[in-house]
Amino acid sequence: MKHTSNPEMTAFPGRRRTLLGWMVGIAAGAFASVRLIESIPAANLIRNVHHWAAHVMIVTLLLHALRVYFTGTYRKPREITWVLGVVLLGMTLAAGFVGYALPWDAFAVTATGIGFGLARSIPLVGHLLSDLFFGGAFPSLGSLPRLYTIHVVVIPLTIVGVMSLHLLLVLKQKHSMPGYARKLAEPDNVLGISLWPYHALLAGQLVFLMLGGLSLLAAFVPVHPLTAYGPPTPETPAVKPDWYLLWIFGLLKLIPSGFGFTLGPLTIGPEFLGGVLFPGVVFGAMTLVPWLDRTNRHVLRRFEYMEPPAEAPVRLALGVGALTAVGMLLVAAYYDQIGLTLGQIWLLVVGVPMLIVAVIVGWGCRQRGRRRL
Ligand code: HEM
Ligand code: HEM
Repeated sequence: MKHTSNPEMTAFPGRRRTLLGWMVGIAAGAFASVRLIESIPAANLIRNVHHWAAHVMIVTLLLHALRVYFTGTYRKPREITWVLGVVLLGMTLAAGFVGYALPWDAFAVTATGIGFGLARSIPLVGHLLSDLFFGGAFPSLGSLPRLYTIHVVVIPLTIVGVMSLHLLLVLKQKHSMPGYARKLAEPDNVLGISLWPYHALLAGQLVFLMLGGLSLLAAFVPVHPLTAYGPPTPETPAVKPDWYLLWIFGLLKLIPSGFGFTLGPLTIGPEFLGGVLFPGVVFGAMTLVPWLDRTNRHVLRRFEYMEPPAEAPVRLALGVGALTAVGMLLVAAYYDQIGLTLGQIWLLVVGVPMLIVAVIVGWGCRQRGRRRL
């Protein structure tokens, strides 16, 4: 996104470019610069690659986290690797959210405005935090430069730093092994291929395959053009976030807008409950998974082998239950459009995951009973 200077907006006393003029120019130029990118085929291809790469990155992280979770390899000695992974997932989702703002069209301003409202709703520190991340009130002159810097400097540098620690830990502790390696691995040796040259070559091939796949996606699957929403106006279009943030939107829709209470000096509203507290609890629980898992509490044990998911029915049930709950929240984002009432969608969001957990735990107990016979 290039800042195209606008003489009318930057002509302040003495025709010297001031910080204020620079900020106005940026906000006005953002939309125009992405329109310019759209009009140049090669530049548009790069823009589309970035769009699809963001989706692919989030899908890949989720698949990786699910593999680690369902095979229990977040346990000793890899707890910190897991925690760093959760940070990476959070930072990537944050990058996706902040990225919405940058083209500064009506969608960008509305979607980012919802995020600003959520940040503001945090009791006590909401104003401070939202001023810090959104550069004051939103949308204001300070917003875009602040969000741009967060998106292209702060978050990528944090991801690179945390990813380096994550990979250093993998290098030091080595990866876990599949169950069949128990019979093949020599004591104190990890069964697998060496990092150099075999793994590096495989990874290199994967990078080229991924770039090819992303280029095909970018060339053939359209990204919504900026004219779809147009430049920001005082009207607020109806917007929904992308799939990876839609579960939060679904939860926000479940809580009636008038709901809220006060706790002494604190005012708790629906935005805080659905958009801040709930995602915070989800990420908090994910971070604590290695310590919540009872099988990880033997002081001296190390888990060097992946556990088949069916052999840990409680973990399996909770994981599938959590995924089902997220799926139900995605449905909740559309519940009024598909003709459900608020009561019905609440029943589905709470009932279906609980039913799934009960069925899997029941099945697991029966399997265990059979194995004992
Ligand atoms: C930018 C994001 C990430 C990168 C580049 C990355 C990369 C890697 C690599 C290369 C490995 C070793 C191979 C393997 O075990 O699959 C690994 C292992 C691991 N990752 Fe990640 N990861 C990322 C995000 C995550 C996330 C989101 C989580 C969990 C929430 C996570 C948790 C783990 C754990 C616990 C291990 C050790 C697992 C084992 O040895 O079986 N990582 N990661
Ligand atoms: C964790 C990695 C990142 C994710 C998940 C991400 C995600 C996004 C998303 C969702 C958008 C909204 C636009 C769209 O999808 O069409 C966006 C826009 C943008 N991103 Fe990123 N981004 C990441 C890293 C970066 C980095 C490293 C840079 C530059 C150094 C960057 C530069 C931009 C720019 C300039 C835009 C606005 C232009 C446009 O909308 O096409 N992003 N990003």
